[in-house]
Amino acid sequence: MATHKPPASVSKKADPRAASAVTAVEMGARQREISISEFFTKNRHLLGFDNPRKALLTCVKEAVDNALDACEEAGILPDVTVQLEVVSIGSSAAPPASQATRFRVTVADNGPGIVRQQIPRIFAKLLYGSKFHRLRMSRGQQGIGISAAGMYGQLTTGKPVKIISRTGSKASAHYFEVQIDTKKNEPLVHENKQIDWDQPRGTQVAIEVEGRYQKGRASVDEYLDQTSIANPHVKLTYRTPEGETKEYPRAYHELPPSPKEIKPHPYGIEFGMFLKMLHEAKNQTLSSFLSSDFCRVTPALADEMCKAAKVSPKAKPRDVRSTIAETLYHQIQATKIMSPPTNCLSPIGEKAILSGLYKQIEGEFYTAVSRPPSVYRGNPFIIEAGLAFGKAPDSATKLEKPAQLLAEGEQEEGDAELARVIRYANRVPLLYQQSACAIFKAVLATTWRNYGISQSRGALPAGPMAIFVHIASVWVPFTSESKEAIAEYDEIHKEITLALRECGRRLGLFLRRRERAASEYRRRNIFELYIEEVVEACNRLKGGKLPTEKLKVQLQKIASSRTGGVKTDETLGKTGAGPEGLPYSIIVSAEGIEGEIPPAVIGSDEIEVEEQQVSQKSERRQTAKTRSDKKGQGKAAAVRSVPKKSASFAQQRAGAGRADRRVLRTRKKM
Ligand SMILES: Nc1ncnc2c1ncn2[C@@H]1O[C@H](COP(=O)(O)OP(=O)(O)O)[C@@H](O)[C@H]1O
Ligand SMILES: [Mg+2]
Repeated sequence: MATHKPPASVSKKADPRAASAVTAVEMGARQREISISEFFTKNRHLLGFDNPRKALLTCVKEAVDNALDACEEAGILPDVTVQLEVVSIGSSAAPPASQATRFRVTVADNGPGIVRQQIPRIFAKLLYGSKFHRLRMSRGQQGIGISAAGMYGQLTTGKPVKIISRTGSKASAHYFEVQIDTKKNEPLVHENKQIDWDQPRGTQVAIEVEGRYQKGRASVDEYLDQTSIANPHVKLTYRTPEGETKEYPRAYHELPPSPKEIKPHPYGIEFGMFLKMLHEAKNQTLSSFLSSDFCRVTPALADEMCKAAKVSPKAKPRDVRSTIAETLYHQIQATKIMSPPTNCLSPIGEKAILSGLYKQIEGEFYTAVSRPPSVYRGNPFIIEAGLAFGKAPDSATKLEKPAQLLAEGEQEEGDAELARVIRYANRVPLLYQQSACAIFKAVLATTWRNYGISQSRGALPAGPMAIFVHIASVWVPFTSESKEAIAEYDEIHKEITLALRECGRRLGLFLRRRERAASEYRRRNIFELYIEEVVEACNRLKGGKLPTEKLKVQLQKIASSRTGGVKTDETLGKTGAGPEGLPYSIIVSAEGIEGEIPPAVIGSDEIEVEEQQVSQKSERRQTAKTRSDKKGQGKAAAVRSVPKKSASFAQQRAGAGRADRRVLRTRKKM
């Protein structure tokens, strides 16, 4: 029998290191600093550039977010134009948008503009921005948005970012072409000149990127739709790569209240950070450092905390170190300090949410909830939630038509349909990583069955429903730099759950009431069928001398009161009165609209509705107007002209048939 030889490496006694092994000295020689741009060039997925489709969206998103932030901070009602153009590669003709691999993204705003000296660094240096170092609610926070988009463009197409900016009608417009030196993370300016620009003020950025244009979930189109829902004060114009122009008119004519900047709250500071702040403090005394660098710490409270930690309030902050600093830190954490102020937040508000949902999603029931402010890790935040439920009444009647025969395994449309969750952070739609997000988890964890909505275990609730959740915070805890999902803090989870429960409770109330009213109404109809017969029979018995009309009216009254009376009519939307017990809600039924329609929806200006495209819905809403005008209550004083509805989830839900509802205006490409 042949004996097995032991493997060569075991039998050898030689040097255990492989031939290619390196020494510490060789290793040492290879150590090198990594620039932030080099790092993100290799890890671009961390910034939202994982694939061409998402990259296109991220570019649009970063530019639009910046435009809106800048306008709002400068107190200007935003007017933003987004244009996507197909770029042909080499000398070949430009392919159709669905086949194209290269696009030019151009975003222009009417904001404050950018001073000339700052332009290169803003657009061609990562981690450079005005928002990171302050605690104030804004869409951007890390200073790595638009510069990353520019870097991605440079990486995939080699083209520079082109910027035009003008700070006022008296200033001249500047045109720049910049690229990023990834080794140094510094800008390279290729072009810098004054130009004539027809806009009196604002910024326009154009980036050429490798991308893919595809509509549907998580597309540029969806992002803009959702942006318009949560930002009804914005006027958006979108020129699609297919040459269409979509208009999202301004529905709210006031800017959201400008959020104030706040100091950090002592509860939100970790020990290492506290040490750093002590070291860098410019204050003379520890007491003044504590009261001026943190919010909600009065000089008296600062003295008290110092004394409790056995440090002199007059000590120099720099001299407070090691164990003393640690004792002081723990003392501060143990002291009861008022929650941070919340004027640093600017929630969307129930009315605006309601108006946004109503404008963009067709349904039967809408509601919105804004929670009171709360705090996680010393950072104030507010949760807002909303619901749009049901199918538009006209489409609901369509469904009542004799059902078509279904093929085996096929299901009735709408039955298996799950709710859609629309997530927002500081008014920015979050389109990716849904299942990793605290918002989505809270929606799953809510027991929707309590509110009359079916839900399989661990799944989204079923039904034609869009669930809207917004977190507004001075610092949104994203799970990564690409800002796609909210981290799961207990306080945040709890607030989302409470907001969702309130929405659910109202929906449940609406559904129960509607169900009850519908059955009472059916009963009333049956009574009424027999009333004629009964009146005739009585008349015959009385030898034809009975006042039949009177008896009929009396019997009808009884039938009505036995079947819920006016309540039934109200619930089914037959009176035009507002929905009782349902604050911040709208009920839409075939007969009209009940509830306060926010003024936003009423007077959309700038709307040039193209007559031929006015959908049936507009007629429905016009009816609502006439009805309520008659009542003179101005309640559902709705909708003089139809808000331009662009592609919405409801439409996507209802399929292509609704596409004609879109009011698009096609202009020539720029
Ligand atoms: N359209 C714009 N108008 C005015 N300022 C802008 C505009 N775009 C960007 N900025 C400025 O450039 C900075 C950097 O932008 P960005 O890289 O997206 O980071 P962030 O938005 O996270 O701060 C912003 O903080 C803002 O001050
Ligand atoms: Mg930004």
